[in-house]
Amino acid sequence: MKTTHRVYFEDSERMPALPAGSVDLIVTSPPYPMIEMWDGLFTRLSPAARDALHQQQGFAAFDAMHRVLDPVWEEAHRVLRPGGFACINIGDATRTIGDAFMLYPNHSRILTRCIALGFTPLPAILWRKQTNSPNKFMGSGMLPAGAYVTLEHELVLVLRKGPKREFTHPKEKQLRRESAIFWEERNLWYSDVWFDLKGTRQGLEKGEPRRRSGAFPFELAYRLISMFSAKGDTVLDPFLGTGTTLKAAAAAARNSIGFEIEPDFAESVFHRIREIVGFANERVRSRIDGHIDFIRQCRDTGRTLKHVNRRYNFPVVTRQETELFLNLLTDVRIQEKHGFEVSYSDSAGPVSDLPAVSPAGNLPPKPNHQLELFAR
Ligand SMILES: C[S@@+](CC[C@H](N)C(=O)[O-])C[C@H]1O[C@@H](n2cnc3c(N)ncnc32)[C@H](O)[C@@H]1O
Repeated sequence: MKTTHRVYFEDSERMPALPAGSVDLIVTSPPYPMIEMWDGLFTRLSPAARDALHQQQGFAAFDAMHRVLDPVWEEAHRVLRPGGFACINIGDATRTIGDAFMLYPNHSRILTRCIALGFTPLPAILWRKQTNSPNKFMGSGMLPAGAYVTLEHELVLVLRKGPKREFTHPKEKQLRRESAIFWEERNLWYSDVWFDLKGTRQGLEKGEPRRRSGAFPFELAYRLISMFSAKGDTVLDPFLGTGTTLKAAAAAARNSIGFEIEPDFAESVFHRIREIVGFANERVRSRIDGHIDFIRQCRDTGRTLKHVNRRYNFPVVTRQETELFLNLLTDVRIQEKHGFEVSYSDSAGPVSDLPAVSPAGNLPPKPNHQLELFAR
């Protein structure tokens, strides 16, 4: 199995390289209107935003900045297949312009626009980003009634183009079954509040560049891709930044395409891409290890798992997980500035050597080989 990952250093307002309906999933995060780090970009693209900021007209600036993003949402709708999802990570902004401190509700502005374009809104994910900054509380302190609630979350808007996607062809159905997620992952990932993304940021990007680029955590993109697409699908990020979506797509055995208006980001996108094989395989292993821990907990509490996964030969909770298979990456070939291609192993590798598991779902008695095999 192979996947391809293409990068265009172009404005995504128009994506002529992409035919209508050619993308299966969009995962993205635009520059956030009214957050100061993006003022330079918006004022360069919109004289109206520049004038409004200059004249300290907060809502006019907010509106002008969103008018820069609007054509990208329209183009995103065109290139998305019927039944395809769009996941848009966006935070609201608080800002004082002149004397007026207020909230600029980016998420509701984008949602309203996307609904007008024909997207179906679905329940969103609240990404809780707790801050420990001593200055996090704003306003009159302990004295009512002039203190403000602190913004400690962002959202991932979840939208779909039209009705549910159909999986009709046998090959499509098979890839969908292989793309299943573990029952215990489902319970976390499909919750509408995500608290636990902090510990999963490490890897290809380190803290400082991440903060300056507005990059989202690898895990955020990896989960969304795993939840809303199948292996072999094509994922688009029209606001690519450092390329997190491409790396997560590669790790999840999906193809991907990114558009980025700033050619300077090429270095970040291709930075350490050679390490994607080891990095992505770590994530695959951590999912398997997580499942093995879950099986142990079940065993310790006397819970019986009824089904057995055919590829790994370990117990799973539901029949839907019996063909789940996470391909390990074997190689990456880079075409500098244009993209990269990833090859995968189609066999379960050392996992197939695992001792058989009884249909009752109990792990074999000691020694327990699973973790050692994965650690190789
Ligand atoms: C919030 S950042 C995305 C960060 C990305 N999710 C990551 O993990 O690195 C938004 C990016 O969109 C880019 N951008 C803004 N407007 C654009 C446009 N019209 N077309 C393509 N890229 C654009 C910006 O240069 C910036 O890199």
